[in-house]
Amino acid sequence: MVILKQPDEIDKAKASSRIVAEVLSVLRERIKPGVTTRELDKIAESVTEKRGAKPAFKGYRGYPYSLCASVNEEVVHGMPSGRVLKEGDIVGLDFGVYYQGFYGDAAVTLPVGRVSEEAARLMRVTEQSLYAAIEQASSGNRLGDISAAVQETAESAGYSVVRDFVGHGIGRNMHEDPQIPNFGKKGRGIELQTGMILAIEPMVNAGRYRVKILPDGWTVITEDGSLSAHFEHSVAITDNGPEILSRLN
Ligand code: MF3
Ligand code: CO
Repeated sequence: MVILKQPDEIDKAKASSRIVAEVLSVLRERIKPGVTTRELDKIAESVTEKRGAKPAFKGYRGYPYSLCASVNEEVVHGMPSGRVLKEGDIVGLDFGVYYQGFYGDAAVTLPVGRVSEEAARLMRVTEQSLYAAIEQASSGNRLGDISAAVQETAESAGYSVVRDFVGHGIGRNMHEDPQIPNFGKKGRGIELQTGMILAIEPMVNAGRYRVKILPDGWTVITEDGSLSAHFEHSVAITDNGPEILSRLN
């Protein structure tokens, strides 16, 4: 069941999503060779606490950290650790908060120092696939329009989209209906309506789409060891079209 939100609820989800955006922008400044993903987790927690919000992931199904930090062939749900980021890595940072009764959720993939042209292109295309999807997030369109936009953008660049993880509705719960696959057909699926808030999150692999989960029970990696990128925004569908909640300004 999809829960529609009133304008005052969208404002609250925006407040929460903006804290996520602020955290990601602070982390962006801190990404450089030599930093550990555990340090990033601590920074994310302290900024969140300063804003009077709660990290959304910590304790979620037993997840022990606030941030997900996924390096290179890690797709999503990488766990912060003493791992030192090095020049040429790419790192996906996925963060969520709970604030005034609503969740916000967003992710970016960032270069560590200078990266290969192949890594840069993967990140660029994955981010473009997110924006192509967001353009479809208007009332009267269908869920499949969002999914198809991601898939077409990624596949026409020679990449593949992860099948086993999806985007989601978000609101008073971190995960609400509908599930939002990153592959699908235009014109299919439920009709999009004003008042929906969607966390759209393409996960794009440079190689094949298959993934596996490491023995830690969380870290998702590409089966073929290829690089992967992940971007996510929380987006409200309004009478004036899509509104990205998880960005600054
Ligand atoms: N942003 C992810 C999601 O939408 C992260 C949640 S996984 C967690 O599902 F367990 F770390 F919380
Ligand atoms: Co999400």
